[in-house]
Amino acid sequence: MATDLATPFDRSERQIWRGSADAYARSFAHLCAHLAPDLLDAVLADGDRTPRLLDVGTGTGTVALGAHERGADVVACDADPGMVAAAVASAGVGGAPRLPGVVAALPALPFADGSFDAVTAGFVLNHVGRPRAAATELARVVRPGGRVAATIWAAPPAAGQTLVGRALAAAGIERPASFPALDRDDDFPRTVDGLAEVLRGAGLVDVVVEERRWEHRVDADTWWAGPASGVATTGKTLTSAAPEAQASARAHFERLADELRADDGLLALPHVALLGYGQRLHG
Ligand SMILES: C[S@@+](CC[C@H](N)C(=O)[O-])C[C@H]1O[C@@H](n2cnc3c(N)ncnc32)[C@H](O)[C@@H]1O
Repeated sequence: MATDLATPFDRSERQIWRGSADAYARSFAHLCAHLAPDLLDAVLADGDRTPRLLDVGTGTGTVALGAHERGADVVACDADPGMVAAAVASAGVGGAPRLPGVVAALPALPFADGSFDAVTAGFVLNHVGRPRAAATELARVVRPGGRVAATIWAAPPAAGQTLVGRALAAAGIERPASFPALDRDDDFPRTVDGLAEVLRGAGLVDVVVEERRWEHRVDADTWWAGPASGVATTGKTLTSAAPEAQASARAHFERLADELRADDGLLALPHVALLGYGQRLHG
């Protein structure tokens, strides 16, 4: 991203994700994978012949690989080089990459207008400093008549989404100043109407936004391992704290997790997200 386009929030996001690919793949990637089929259903029509699909903020490549398996000609793009390498490797056969990876950050993608038949962005617009400009960029690179789909976390969050944050708060751990919140002027309501407004403002038509709720089932140690490995803002907040505070947060986590433990001992973590999609107007 050109330096002048990167906000302080964007710069902190670059730090937050750096070096996290392996830990992300073991933890939150499984959570985000829940909506990967919905993203692809929203942009790929039956009978499309080898559509060109760009997956932006690909992370470790769940959506990109899913698109590849559905016959799309996929480019996997992420702001973090480690994520791009992991996404490309995830689709490798005998070491040979099957999908190209590109390191690039919203809101400035290195593709010409209308380069793709479809564009996906799974849980990315909630990680960018200028969500409206980012959505406009997603719409720019899809061809007229092509489709864009994005997921974000909804507000208010469900109980599974706040579990680790509550444990950190109970331990007195606060988000470090080096990880600023999104500027209020750039923010938008994380609601059906809020995401729809962003997608329409990007120039998309026939916009649909749907709420998706599900329970992510996972054992407590695995769920804790994500933030404890420094994944995402919560993880970096945790690992920036003193060791005693981290131990206290873990103890609070164990206590709070009991509220969400199912009969089989796994955590049943409610999550709520928004799936939005639309079409670029025919030229
Ligand atoms: C929560 S992960 C989602 C990854 C993947 N889409 C998935 O569903 O598993 C967010 C990803 O967005 C990437 N990201 C953050 N800011 C970005 C930006 N401005 N442009 C492109 N990617 C960005 C991060 O590096 C990270 O890989």
